[in-house]
Amino acid sequence: MSCRYPVAISLLTSLMLAVACGDDTGTSSDSGTTGSETTGETDTDTGTDTGTANAPTWYQDIAPLVAGKCSGCHKPDSIGPFSLTDYDSAMPWASLMADSVEDGSMPPFAAVQTDECQTRHGFMDDISLSDDEKTMLRDWADAEAPMGDPDNAAPLPTPPDLELKDADVRLTSPRPVTIEGNKDQFLCFSVDPGLTEDTYLQAAQIIAGNEAIVHHVLVYTDEDGSSEQQAGEQGYWSCPGGGINGDALIAAWAPGGVPTQTPDEAAFRIPAGSRIIMNIHYHPTGAGSEVDPGTSIDLKWYDGRPPFVAEMALIGNFENAPELLAGPGDDGNPEFRIPADATAHTETMQFTLPNEIPPLMLWSVSTHMHYVGYDMLLGIERANPGGEPGQECLLHTPSYSFEWQRGYRYNAEFAALPTIKPGDTLSMRCKYNNSMSNPYVVEALDELGHETPIDVYLGEETLDEMCLGVYGVAYTNFYP
Ligand code: HEC
Repeated sequence: MSCRYPVAISLLTSLMLAVACGDDTGTSSDSGTTGSETTGETDTDTGTDTGTANAPTWYQDIAPLVAGKCSGCHKPDSIGPFSLTDYDSAMPWASLMADSVEDGSMPPFAAVQTDECQTRHGFMDDISLSDDEKTMLRDWADAEAPMGDPDNAAPLPTPPDLELKDADVRLTSPRPVTIEGNKDQFLCFSVDPGLTEDTYLQAAQIIAGNEAIVHHVLVYTDEDGSSEQQAGEQGYWSCPGGGINGDALIAAWAPGGVPTQTPDEAAFRIPAGSRIIMNIHYHPTGAGSEVDPGTSIDLKWYDGRPPFVAEMALIGNFENAPELLAGPGDDGNPEFRIPADATAHTETMQFTLPNEIPPLMLWSVSTHMHYVGYDMLLGIERANPGGEPGQECLLHTPSYSFEWQRGYRYNAEFAALPTIKPGDTLSMRCKYNNSMSNPYVVEALDELGHETPIDVYLGEETLDEMCLGVYGVAYTNFYP
């Protein structure tokens, strides 16, 4: 029999980790490294003659870099605003390309190694640029973007493919929704995956119906299927704060999101008869009405019974001590308040894992804040390190952008993943810029009709803030 221990996340009551706690505590699991990870990393050989007067050229140096790290989005009919697939289209953008990689706004891959944080493993599908590559782009731009020799063009790598192609089923919110006015709305849709037996989910991809208004989507299992009644004739209900305690989160989407894909050894467990709840947070554009014709989720089932069960844990958003640590500007008790005009305000939270949870393998990490946040760091301090570091940085996103949020999977064998055990303490450190030098703050204030920054507190609406770590974990599968 399993018991469910909800790791309560204050504020986001819906965001709870239901970690099943069996009687397998203490025994560290044999992770059975059967599946081999393939890495999507592209090994770009730059081949520059550094130190000579020879500037890098498009055909010899830049085209391979851009093909591996930029043109997945910057190609015709993709999300990038212009194409970078050939010399003529890329050349006019040379300086801006160099600027954007230097300021960290491009490519949108926020997980990077920093002085403060070196993660044990790199990340899958990493498209970030090395310092040498950034310099090369700058040198190319400064030399007025020379073309080089097309007849001796360097081979082009294939960019990582971020689409989930072989899904088994697509579920779509049952009816269109019109969003207008200026109030955020949280709607929960109940959909039926038609499962007659317990099934394991390996991959999921959320497809927002209208990115102009879909702010984020959280997908949960609803084990007793009661959401069908709750949604009623209309097919959805209003669910500010979620209102769906106890069910397991299986996928999340925010702008820039990529599919959730578990390691080969683990999958999300979806009991027979479960329904799926899509919790969609709509944020009106403020400029008239917009329609979401239907937001979908594609699901890919795991073949058989995995040795590990995957779960997504959202930890953070603590409003009080002891989890919220005292920060600058707090007098007396710790308070989550980002003062108006603060340019580098920090809030730090800590959460110690209770004894009831089984040992967890950490396969994916992500950071979540809203518009004021610009830098977030996740760490762990282990109570009994064993063979692992006592203190370890798990993720640093120093150029965090709300517009680009995604999960980052460690590029490692399952057995070599970081673990989280009872008594370990997870920390989340969030930095905020609540001043007019943050363009998102300017935009948000404009929407609200304010002229100058206001104090920002913890909350769910877009113009509130959050500080939330998203952890993809896996524990030994004791289900029959
Ligand atoms: C995951 C998709 C994606 C990738 C990969 C990507 N871009 Fe972009 N890029 C965008 C989108 C979307 C925009 C427009 C919105 C924005 O600026 O965020 C953009 C905007 C830009 C701009 C306009 C100015 C700016 O900073 O917003 C430049 C320049 C740029 N990209 C260069 C690059 C370069 C160089 C790379 C590779 C090193 C790259 N991009 C990789 C999606 C991408």
